[in-house]
This record gives sequence, structure tokens and C-alpha cells, in this order.
Amino acid sequence: MANQILKGKRGIIFGALNENSIAWQVASRCHAEGASIVLTNAPVAARVGQTEALAQQLGAPLIYADVTKMEDLENLVSQSVEKLGGPLDFVLHSVGMSLNVRKKIPYTELNYEYMHQTLDISGMSFHRLMQVLWKQDAMAEWGSIVGLTYIAAQRVFPDYSEMAEAKNLLESIARSFGYHYGKHKKVRVNTISQSPTKTTAGSGVGGFDAFFNYADSMSPLGNADAESCANYCVSLFSDYTRMVTMQNLFHDGGFSFTGISQELMENFKDTNS
Ligand SMILES: NC(=O)c1ccc[n+]([C@@H]2O[C@H](COP(=O)([O-])OP(=O)(O)OC[C@H]3O[C@@H](n4cnc5c(N)ncnc54)[C@H](O)[C@@H]3O)[C@@H](O)[C@H]2O)c1
Repeated sequence: MANQILKGKRGIIFGALNENSIAWQVASRCHAEGASIVLTNAPVAARVGQTEALAQQLGAPLIYADVTKMEDLENLVSQSVEKLGGPLDFVLHSVGMSLNVRKKIPYTELNYEYMHQTLDISGMSFHRLMQVLWKQDAMAEWGSIVGLTYIAAQRVFPDYSEMAEAKNLLESIARSFGYHYGKHKKVRVNTISQSPTKTTAGSGVGGFDAFFNYADSMSPLGNADAESCANYCVSLFSDYTRMVTMQNLFHDGGFSFTGISQELMENFKDTNS
């Protein structure tokens, strides 16, 4: 279904670790729609991921950068503009990590050094990235910046733990920076709030399967998968969504506005009636 709607556009895609990564699907779709992209990931991904294989498959340059390091981001952005031959039309921030979640530390006993790292990698990095793009004047007019988030920023999902705070920060930065970038250069900034998706980061959350199945049975359209998220990203990078900015956009098959589904009602039916 490629229509070349990103033909001639240039962008950076963060976070394609392996085939399951949402960013992997986004990179593939952007490529199919005619965009030129640079892939990036944390230096450690060179050891534990398959980003290199995707770069070869798409013929895309791969520049490693740790999102907590300003100098890495500066190098990434300047090199990307140079390699792609001009300013950027879109950037996808698809980055998240929490050691407290990974080590299954209970929310009421969080380790604050880990928490600091979580907020830095998963939230503050969005600001750091946009500051670097801004200072290098690396975005083209009417460009589009997207970050990925989860509904735990609005509602409590106990096992999502401190990542809820990180996503809150991410969504707030999208609004605040979106204001300034809109005024400054007509650049739009949005977050996509995605359904639970079977990826490395997703599956790290305790009880992920229950999470996934619950959301699926609550959503009239079912859970949105990584491929459909990629299609949504493409639409946000295209010229058809130029006036959408500072939004948290739910891409969740209707989950966020469903109170109860018939499937769940069945489970709680009064057996006496
Ligand atoms: N999987 C889900 O259920 C789900 C749902 C909603 C939102 N999201 C969000 O989608 C985004 C992508 O996650 P995913 O599910 O595709 O998992 P993933 O594990 O494939 O991607 C996470 C990426 O973050 C990168 N990363 C971690 N630390 C980094 C650092 N210091 N510098 C640079 N990169 C770093 C990892 O290398 C990896 O590529 C995340 O923001 C995640 O929170 C995921």
C-alpha cells in the first residue's frame, strides 16, 4: 500500500532494536513510502540488537547515540543532516528503559538512582533531542517530531511502575516544546499513545500477557499492532497532518474511551441471575 507519501523527505528513527521493535516497523514503512532515513540506537544495541541488519536492508546510515549524552545527540543530528543532504522533515523518538522495572523492584521501594536514569532516558531525552535539533536549526519548516507513549501516563497500571512518570514527562515536553517549535519554525510535536505491543521493552513489564489480553478485550478494534502504529507515524510525518501539534494521540483500537466491553461483562456476570 505504499503511495510514496514521504517521497523526498528526510528523517531520523530512534530505537529499532530488533524486528519486534515498533521503530523497526516505522523505519521500514518510511523507507517504503520514499523517505531517506538515518537509524540510531544506543551504543549497547550494537551488541544486543539487530539495528545493523536493518540499516543494511534499507541502505540507511546507522549512527549510534546514547540519548542521555548531549555530545552523542549533537554528532547524530549534524551527521544526519550531512548524510541525508539537507534539513530533517521528521524524527521518531522510540526510546524507553527502566532498571526498576527490569529488576522488578516494587513501586513503593523504587531505587532513586535507577529512577533518575529512567526519567533521563525515557523522558528528558525528548527535550534534549529537540534542543539539539533547535540549536543546529536541523528541522525543515513544517517538520514533524513524534514520541511514543503509553496510557499509564493518565491511568494507573501498577506494574508499569515509574515508567508512568517518565511518560508523563515525555507527553508534557511534547506540549511545551511543541508550542515553541510551532512558533519558531512551524514544526509540530506529538506523542502517540500506543496499545500494548509485544516488543523487548513491552514484554519487560510484569504481567505483560495479562495486560495485553485485557487491553485487547477492552478495545472495540482490538490492540493496535506495531505495523499499524508505523502507518500512523507515516501519516504524522506526511503533509496531510500539518496542523496537528502538541497532542497526545491515542492509537489503541478505542481502548482509552471504552468503559467496559461485552467480553469483560461476561466474566463478571452474576451467576445467580
Ligand atoms: N511495547 C509496548 O507495549 C509499548 C506501548 C506503548 C508505548 N511504547 C513505547 O514505544 C517505544 C519503543 O519501545 P518498543 O516497545 O518498540 O521496545 P524496544 O525495546 O524494541 O525499543 C526501545 C528502544 O530504546 C532504546 N534505548 C534504550 N536506552 C537507550 C539510550 N540510552 N539511548 C538510545 N536508545 C536507547 C533501545 O535500544 C531500544 O531500541 C518506547 O518509548 C516504549 O515505551 C511501547
